[in-house]
Amino acid sequence: MILRSLAVENFRNYESGSFDFSEGTNVFYGDNAQGKTNALEAVFFCGMGRSYRPGKDRELIRFGEEEGHIRLRLEKDGVPHRIDVHLRSSGRKGIAIDGVPIKKAVELFGVMHVIIFAPEDLSIIKNAPAQRRSFMDMELCQLDRVYTSNLIAYNKVIMQKNKLLKSLEEDRSLAETLPLWNDQLVRYAVPVIKRRRQFIDELKEITRRVHSGITGGEEELELIYEPSCDETELADRLTAGIQKEIWSGMSQYGPHRDDLRFEINGIDVRSYGSQGQQRTAALSTKLSEIELVRIRTHDEPIVLLDDVMSELDCGRQRRLLSELSGIQTVITCTGLEELTDKDFCVDKAFLIEKGKVIKETNIRENGEKA
Ligand SMILES: Nc1ncnc2c1ncn2[C@@H]1O[C@H](COP(=O)(O)OP(=O)(O)OP(=O)(O)O)[C@@H](O)[C@H]1O
Ligand SMILES: [Mg+2]
Repeated sequence: MILRSLAVENFRNYESGSFDFSEGTNVFYGDNAQGKTNALEAVFFCGMGRSYRPGKDRELIRFGEEEGHIRLRLEKDGVPHRIDVHLRSSGRKGIAIDGVPIKKAVELFGVMHVIIFAPEDLSIIKNAPAQRRSFMDMELCQLDRVYTSNLIAYNKVIMQKNKLLKSLEEDRSLAETLPLWNDQLVRYAVPVIKRRRQFIDELKEITRRVHSGITGGEEELELIYEPSCDETELADRLTAGIQKEIWSGMSQYGPHRDDLRFEINGIDVRSYGSQGQQRTAALSTKLSEIELVRIRTHDEPIVLLDDVMSELDCGRQRRLLSELSGIQTVITCTGLEELTDKDFCVDKAFLIEKGKVIKETNIRENGEKA
């Protein structure tokens, strides 16, 4: 899959802007707050039907405007495709693939596979479990539609059940309906847990290899899926824990409480690992995602790197860049020299200023050195 072009209109701080990408390494560079991350966000949106940054879709529309647009062109197995996004401040967003409107964002999954590295991803190990769950979900949703629909259904059940638990203070008799909600919960939770386990089992083999490479064989990284409750025990746990849930007013058991543990040479990285070890382990895990996507989809994902370089030391930057060679990437950085000083080949560079591309350089094609 090759990303060909991106055009935005009234998107974030862009009135209008367009980008024709190279098949190799593309760089958005420029000062802070000019629109580099915004342009990357537009690419991501076309892959996932949502942003990776928190907030509402309507916040993506340029201040003072009612509508915003994103158009992305890509090529898959030699066939051109187009994704159009229509953002409306008043209502639902519209997304179309090759001119045909889709009903649900999940229909986008499988058209374009994006993997994003943002600075927060380097803190995935020390941050809260929600970020580790979101890491599993972002990847699994792109790889597996059945997983996505089970997860959506599960989240709906949890929302309803939490609402019910909260309303028990006013009407205790509603507790009678809890077992019915728990039956629904188990129905969707079990396939979610099973699929997460399978995903981590697959990913951990690759991660072990990648991490060993990055650390020169010094460290063995182990990923361990930690479900809040095993799928075989969930139904019983829910029954036994009804009083606890009523008392706390919250759903206590199920995949919304899952976690992921990282161990290096048998030691828990979150509790005992150095800052550097935590970040390297996170990087190895992210890089492994690329390999997993290749194996699973027989296609190359598009890798988006938002400001990650400045967070890594030189050695890790080099290793990251060498792992990415041959993959289509879009990288944001403040100065182009952050990359070229490391002898990293940039194919195309876009200088961004105040929501405009003010300079576009075809570095490899021109034989020009940045
Ligand atoms: N809906 C919006 N309408 C107009 N401007 C917006 C909107 N949302 C965000 N912005 C502005 O876009 C600007 C650029 O944001 P962006 O995150 O892309 O910067 P950046 O170039 O990545 O900067 P940095 O190097 O600091 O990461 C910000 O100043 C922000 O105020
Ligand atoms: Mg940015």
